[in-house]
Amino acid sequence: MPDTSHIKGLILCGGRGTRLRPLTYTRAKQLIPIANKPALFYVVEDLVQAGIRDIGVVISPETGSEVKEALSAGGTNPWNARFSFILQEEPLGLAHAVKTARPYLEDSPFVMYLGDNLLSGGIAPLVEDFLRSDLHALVLLTPVEDPTRFGVAVVDRRGRVTRLVEKPREPPSNLALVGVYVFHPVVHEVIEDLRPSRRGEYEITDAIQGLLDRGCRVRAHTVRGWWKDTGRPEDLLDANRLLLSHQTGRITGEVVDSEVTGEVVIEEKAKVLRSVVRGPVHVAAGAVIEDSYVGPYTSVGRNALIRSSNVEYSIILDESEVSDLPCRLDAALLGQGVVVRGGGNRPFRHSLRLVLGDRSVVSL
Ligand code: G1P
Repeated sequence: MPDTSHIKGLILCGGRGTRLRPLTYTRAKQLIPIANKPALFYVVEDLVQAGIRDIGVVISPETGSEVKEALSAGGTNPWNARFSFILQEEPLGLAHAVKTARPYLEDSPFVMYLGDNLLSGGIAPLVEDFLRSDLHALVLLTPVEDPTRFGVAVVDRRGRVTRLVEKPREPPSNLALVGVYVFHPVVHEVIEDLRPSRRGEYEITDAIQGLLDRGCRVRAHTVRGWWKDTGRPEDLLDANRLLLSHQTGRITGEVVDSEVTGEVVIEEKAKVLRSVVRGPVHVAAGAVIEDSYVGPYTSVGRNALIRSSNVEYSIILDESEVSDLPCRLDAALLGQGVVVRGGGNRPFRHSLRLVLGDRSVVSL
């Protein structure tokens, strides 16, 4: 593996997460747990695994302190990384974030990783390839169904990027830019000359096009495995499904008079009583499931409670309570400390699909 000591990481944790409201009224979107671990932690793991421990984190005034706290929780920092926090006063785009981070980045090459993006294959091959070559930028691409929602690249047969455009009305290809980029410091010169796009942001896509216009070398890798931009509730649920489908079962909590099948993690001090749990399911420490059915692709947060209910394909955050539901809870995303209580005994015929912000209370 090439020497990675001079390359820095840059994680972007700005943005308002408007597509994930109400959850993002009370927390940074990068901190929403997927398979009971914040999306941001997977990003840190990918960087560390690629040999990058010097990591700048771009934060916003709204959620910066929360992100800082999560990364330095109790001074544990299990990744043994050096975090530097960089405040971006306004969300003026990805290239603007790089500009803001310039004093931290100095003249090092760097990997920029969007804090709410998830990749199954890590980034080590990308970083290694960059360090072995004489490129000015290396981007990661994946084919998508609707390229108009992304930055789109055109690549020649030898993997060289020839053109890029941000959220094109008429996409020149179906290859979307995934939120991971490796840059030579020459990119800062291009960013200095950048103008805002139609949506009023300084686009990193335009900066890379600027590199091409100056005759710089930009190549692309295609994502192996899967990639998820966790921008919308359905993306979070799908990311949860993908992560849980790789999980290996491990039961350290208590299981009494229950049927547990498939790859199920039940952490310490969690209890499953008189219930059926069909994996893959992740039950965090201290959670209680009683007299219930919990079906595939469900994550149950710390100290959450599921009682006399039927839950499938859902993310239930810490300290939430789901009880006595008259129908199945399906594809639900429940914030922290949410209460959904049924009662009475008239069953509903349909399933319930809810996206609820922290501390919501619903009685049925
Ligand atoms: C940003 C980039 C876009 C990229 C996408 C990946 O879009 O501007 O080029 O394809 O991330 O998630 P945004 O999330 O700002 O809409």
